[in-house]
Amino acid sequence: MNINQTKTPIIDTLLKFDKLNPDYYCMPSHHRGSCADESFLMLSDTILKYDLTETPITDDLHEPEYAIAEAQQLAAELFGADKTFFLVNGTTCGNEAMIISSVHEGDKILISRNCHKSILMGLIISGATPIYIEPEKSSKLNTFGSISPQKVEQAFKENPDIRAFILVNPTYYGICSDLKAIADICHSHNALLLVDEAHGAAFSVSDKLPLSAMQSGADMCSQSIHKTAGAMTQSSMLHIKGTLADISKVDSALKIVQSTSPSYILMASLDAARHRLAVNGKYDIEHLIKLSDYIRNGLNSIDGVNCYDKHSDTEVFDFDRTRIVFSIDNKCGFDIFDELFNNYNICAEMADDFNVVLILGPSDSIKQANRLIAAVKKIANKKESSRNSEFSMPAIPSMALTPRAAYFSKTESIPLEKAEGKISAEMIAPYPPGIPVIYPGEVFTADIVEFISDAIKEKRHIHGFSDKTMQTVKICIN
Ligand SMILES: Cc1ncc(COP(=O)(O)O)c(C=O)c1O
Repeated sequence: MNINQTKTPIIDTLLKFDKLNPDYYCMPSHHRGSCADESFLMLSDTILKYDLTETPITDDLHEPEYAIAEAQQLAAELFGADKTFFLVNGTTCGNEAMIISSVHEGDKILISRNCHKSILMGLIISGATPIYIEPEKSSKLNTFGSISPQKVEQAFKENPDIRAFILVNPTYYGICSDLKAIADICHSHNALLLVDEAHGAAFSVSDKLPLSAMQSGADMCSQSIHKTAGAMTQSSMLHIKGTLADISKVDSALKIVQSTSPSYILMASLDAARHRLAVNGKYDIEHLIKLSDYIRNGLNSIDGVNCYDKHSDTEVFDFDRTRIVFSIDNKCGFDIFDELFNNYNICAEMADDFNVVLILGPSDSIKQANRLIAAVKKIANKKESSRNSEFSMPAIPSMALTPRAAYFSKTESIPLEKAEGKISAEMIAPYPPGIPVIYPGEVFTADIVEFISDAIKEKRHIHGFSDKTMQTVKICIN
């Protein structure tokens, strides 16, 4: 690399992005400050003046007594929790804290297989034994959909000593499960229901959105307030309700996974986002619903374009209608994503082989929506080769070691094609669907080796290989 200490590559890239100024359909949902709460905009011009530490009057996130305690209390009231913790390391650390405060070595925890990788980190720290449950497949979205309460009940029947269940709700695609029924099942087995509600922070302020985790009877949930509720990136909350979760254990778990120098700017942005949700949230959600319905109708009127709509799908329990998920017949989602950015100056949130996902913000306009619809129409009219294939996943493999035991075991690297029957030391997740096909401690099957080899041949994104050439995998040898 050409080393030149006068360069500032990140700042240069941010300035370049600002110059491009694309229509922005990504997180964080304040959409580049265009709809942040007024109270936060007052700070943002002179942000460094407020980048403080624990002074005599600014309180301490790890032992809050004054301003932070009050801000957390206000948030708890708004989100229907008994106790709320502000998080400055994202929902990543919230998920880790929920797990390590609920289960430890020897305990079983039920986990939805489509969970985020922070769940694996939580398992490595806690040492708990995962039991996986696979969501139903959504044929309309070509990815995982909801988890049926019947499957959860069945899992408890097979493993009555499960101590907690953690699932993602809503998914990145806005898909929700019947959380109320699932909460009842968990509680009838004396187990905690933990919800990764990273994408559902605004649910509790509108009855037009799916029920929130707290409204459904979950014991804990973590929410990325930055993804859909206007806070700065990394700013999340962990909510607790009822008596099953141990607040003091959560508190001590958060001291493990959070910085000892939490940013007051991030905490202020949480306070401001809560304020906007409380004061303006219903209006913001009404606007988002109208706009997303407008975009959905516009996209669905184009030949060959399918914008997901729960009405036409009996396979999923519920859907966050403010999320836009669309595909174009015979076109790969990654290519649509690239084309939107490169040719139409539109920045989408995420893509997979089939779908493109957009996150709207309260400042987005019909004018901007029309630009999006026109761009998608032009892309759909271009006849190009496809990269679509059927969504499928190999069966969940057997587990020989817990993720923690695998993480700390001795390892060696072997060629992928020789991995059948060996215990993986790493998590491998081809994208799409972005869901791990194997976790540390699980045993490679022939199907998994073939699935990963095919993904490599198809040049898919693959997360998790420590060998960046993807020729070898790490296996456990003791
Ligand atoms: C489902 C899900 N859970 C958790 C996370 C982690 O959240 P955060 O970025 O707030 O750490 C993400 C991030 O994209 C996510 O998609």
